[in-house]
Amino acid sequence: MANNLLAGKKGIIFGALDDKSLAWKIAERCVEEGAQVTLTNAPVALRFGKIDELAEKLDTIVIPADATNLEDLNELFDKSMEHLGGKIDFILHSIGMSINVRKKREYTNLKYEWMNKTLDVSAISLHKVLQTAYQKDALSDWGSVVALSFLAAQRTFPQYSEMAESKALLESIARSFGYHYGAKKNVRVNIISQSPTKTTAGSGVADFDRFYDYADDMAPLGNASSEACADYTVTLFSDLTRFVTMQTLFHDGGFSMMGMSANILK
Ligand code: NAI
Repeated sequence: MANNLLAGKKGIIFGALDDKSLAWKIAERCVEEGAQVTLTNAPVALRFGKIDELAEKLDTIVIPADATNLEDLNELFDKSMEHLGGKIDFILHSIGMSINVRKKREYTNLKYEWMNKTLDVSAISLHKVLQTAYQKDALSDWGSVVALSFLAAQRTFPQYSEMAESKALLESIARSFGYHYGAKKNVRVNIISQSPTKTTAGSGVADFDRFYDYADDMAPLGNASSEACADYTVTLFSDLTRFVTMQTLFHDGGFSMMGMSANILK
């Protein structure tokens, strides 16, 4: 059900690869709520993903940008503001990638060159996006930025490997930049820590299906779906949550607060 929560707002959505992506569902939901968005992803992802289909559906454009490349980000903001006709009200950062995980390197045998890449793509890219926007004054007053994380930032999930460090850094950047952007322009920066979700990035984690079922059995409400994540994200982009900033918000059916559940004991 649409409530026009984002009527008149303009946003940039990073990270829609295919229709399983969290960013895909969030982009669709934002438009349903009255927003206009531009879509962006890494040039390589544009070649094998399906983002053009989404752009057609949402009647918008795709602007290629590697989120670790400052020149690309500069251009992305310029082109987005030109296409949308003004400053940006919200940004979704939905980006994650680990070569060590993809190549199944053990956590105790990481290749550090790849780890640096993981941290750059999955975490420092949020700083780069925010710093580019800040220096260009590309965000409206009371704008809202959301990035997606996972509980491995706070608790140990061995199979998540170096992505745990990425998420801890990502959440720290949201707090630190949230201070500076809040003090300057009332822009808020938050993290949604999402349930395991069956997407390309999610399924890249070892034993993902078993972990997905475990989390589902542990959480009193079960795992939060990508559609539910889209609903929650819309609230953070809306004016209804204007004094929420620098937070890691757990959107996981209660999983993060659990120690044991009756379902697991069974
Ligand atoms: P996905 O694979 O659909 O999305 C990841 C996106 O990151 C892709 O679109 C990919 O092209 C993009 N990306 C990779 N390198 C990039 C670069 N250099 N520049 C720009 N974009 C780049 O998977 P999903 O699950 O939708 O992931 C989105 C976010 O949600 C990630 O931050 C992920 O860690 C997080 N998340 C996912 C969970 C899951 O279980 N699927 C759970 C909690 C958080």
